[in-house]
Amino acid sequence: MRKAWYAVCPSSEVAADPKKVTVNGRDYVLYRDKTGRIVACNGYCPHRGCDLSMGSIHEGELVCPFHGWHFEGTGSCTHIPANKLGTPIPPSYRLNTYPVTELAELVWLYTHPNLDAPAPTSFATFADLLHDDWQYVSFEQTWQAHFTRAVESVLDVSHLPFVHPETTGTDVDPTVIGPEYTVKGKRIVIYPTPFAPSHPMEPVHPTQDAHLRTEIELLFPNQWIIRTPFGNDGIMCTFLTFTPVHDDVTSIFGIAMRNFDLDAPWMDAFHIDHTLRVMAQDQRIVESLRPRIAPFQLQDERHVPSDVPAIRFRVMLRNALKEEQGGF
Ligand code: FES
Ligand SMILES: [Fe+2]
Repeated sequence: MRKAWYAVCPSSEVAADPKKVTVNGRDYVLYRDKTGRIVACNGYCPHRGCDLSMGSIHEGELVCPFHGWHFEGTGSCTHIPANKLGTPIPPSYRLNTYPVTELAELVWLYTHPNLDAPAPTSFATFADLLHDDWQYVSFEQTWQAHFTRAVESVLDVSHLPFVHPETTGTDVDPTVIGPEYTVKGKRIVIYPTPFAPSHPMEPVHPTQDAHLRTEIELLFPNQWIIRTPFGNDGIMCTFLTFTPVHDDVTSIFGIAMRNFDLDAPWMDAFHIDHTLRVMAQDQRIVESLRPRIAPFQLQDERHVPSDVPAIRFRVMLRNALKEEQGGF
């Protein structure tokens, strides 16, 4: 999907020099203008195609390293050193720019350009990421897997006892109840098959209120969170967002967060260590899946009821792509 917001790097990585990022096989350059605001533009110069991430920033403008053309934050070329001073610069001598924003210490890029097309829907994320008084710890992963396979893996509850026997799958009954899930607009919410009460990540019993149960939510197409209640209004969440870099590379930006034991660094270490161990178990399997891209034709794979949330994602993606292609 081109009309979507993708996390592309931590905010701290957009500093003094232009920064290259890649989404869906296209390169973009990010830099900060005079005001500190991030600008996102095409990765290559319209003159002779030089890689603009090799350039520099001069008074808030992007300068190409090949012949020194300057581009301002709107993408317009403002200076061509080889031309006599005062020579008009045609409006088409420009870079496309893209909507970009910073949230949760990440840079988010909307990969459809700022043309005359209607403005994109503004960036939306989970309220869980927006608390001033929670503890947040970030991490990053790169999987050699297609975006579709990576996202589907976090909607798949039946793999837990097989892929994660010593982590999230401990004591999980392989028979999936339901699966219990809801779909509302762009959100798929899943209540995974509960762990045994002895499991360290699942201290509540399935018969308790829904709000006390572990909940997985996907904000289509690429933001995912798992919320695990810890009693006394304590909640521990793991957020992941998936960015398709190339057909066989997906970047994952994660945030481990909680609203209790804020000054306990050992909790940070526990949560991150646990999450990375779980993700390494998933990565190994997901990278092995063929075909690399999840097939849109449902008859190309064999399905069971526990696959329904992942199939809902697949159908949503297919519809979104159809709409996007129709809209170009
Ligand atoms: S290639 Fe960029 S100024 Fe010539
Ligand atoms: Fe998993």
